[in-house]
Amino acid sequence: MLQLKPIPNIVSERQLPVVNSYNEWDPLKEVIVGCVEGAVVPKLEPALLTNTSPQNLWFFQKYGGQPFPQELVEAASKELNEFCQVLEAEGVTVRRPDRIDFSQTYKTPDFEASGFYATMPRDVLIVVGNEIIEAPMAWRSRFFEYRAYRSLMVEYLRRGAKWTPAPKPSMSDEFYDLEYATKPIDQRYALTEKGQFVTGELEPSFDAADIVRFGRDLFVQRSHVTNEIGITWLKRHLGDQFRVHVVKFPDLNPMHIDASLVPLRPGLALVNPARRCIQTELFKKAGWELVDAAPSTLPDNWPMYMCSSWVCMNILSLDPETIFVEKQEEPMQKLLKDLGFKVIPVDFRHVYTFGGSFHCVTCDVRRDGQLEEYGFTEPLEEDELEG
Ligand code: ALA
Repeated sequence: MLQLKPIPNIVSERQLPVVNSYNEWDPLKEVIVGCVEGAVVPKLEPALLTNTSPQNLWFFQKYGGQPFPQELVEAASKELNEFCQVLEAEGVTVRRPDRIDFSQTYKTPDFEASGFYATMPRDVLIVVGNEIIEAPMAWRSRFFEYRAYRSLMVEYLRRGAKWTPAPKPSMSDEFYDLEYATKPIDQRYALTEKGQFVTGELEPSFDAADIVRFGRDLFVQRSHVTNEIGITWLKRHLGDQFRVHVVKFPDLNPMHIDASLVPLRPGLALVNPARRCIQTELFKKAGWELVDAAPSTLPDNWPMYMCSSWVCMNILSLDPETIFVEKQEEPMQKLLKDLGFKVIPVDFRHVYTFGGSFHCVTCDVRRDGQLEEYGFTEPLEEDELEG
């Protein structure tokens, strides 16, 4: 049976700090929802090349540096705006990023690129307690993505939040294994198993979406955009109040943990049956039940350039009993209802095309909760990590 151990830091809802979120399920009060307007297709670059499946390369070769096709933008924008209305109807304060010109080309001493979008705040921002951290990121096209959120960050700072931009890697050629994407698939799989990715260890990098929050315990994966030294930065920065555990998945193309391990409420998490967490026993020992997500109903020919259809499990919790799920993902809805949740269906398939779903397009700024432990104890040891 899962033991809850509240850590003394009791706050009533009235006194909640403006930025306050410790996990993925406490009652949601304020959220940033991404925008798709002005989205630009990134030009092919080392990490993007690695993360793109060969059948999708043509899209980046054709449109790299240009706006996303207008009909895709309009369809996704409509769904995002409707999702915002649903959130507001549930009493949640919705914030949106600033409009930035992502088509502008920029040149640093190390590289030249144009931008991407402000559609997925989950990749660049993570709230841990009353602190909001800007992730360093590892795609050159995302180097300046934080600019879309700067006015919000300054506002949260003025209203009492702690705000920390993590150090960004220079993203020079030396930061990447430039040959990685050209290697045959079986070789790449062997490399990821050995812990070698397109990003090296020259400087810290992580995407916020490679981290998932279970109160005092955070789980992070080494991926093509999150490196060991980036995880070290995070551990050192968060200090003893939190425990950062590294978990692994049998994933050829790891990037973002939120279609692999998704906690729903204390003691219950979704896992991806196509890449179950190697450290399953650790969750079980901590009293957590891991349930396989239901596969997506997305047709095979749906345009998906940047993620898999497993974003059907990339849900957002309104509270520990209520979850937003894509409208046509009936098997996922049934699974969650059978587990006792109330499901709020929202159309989101056109948003999928931009690389994510409800969790990716949001950053939960404030949830009504406090720091707690949920059954996990000591930091995982290296031998446990081997599974
Ligand atoms: N990278 C994850 C997937 O595509 C989100 O499934």
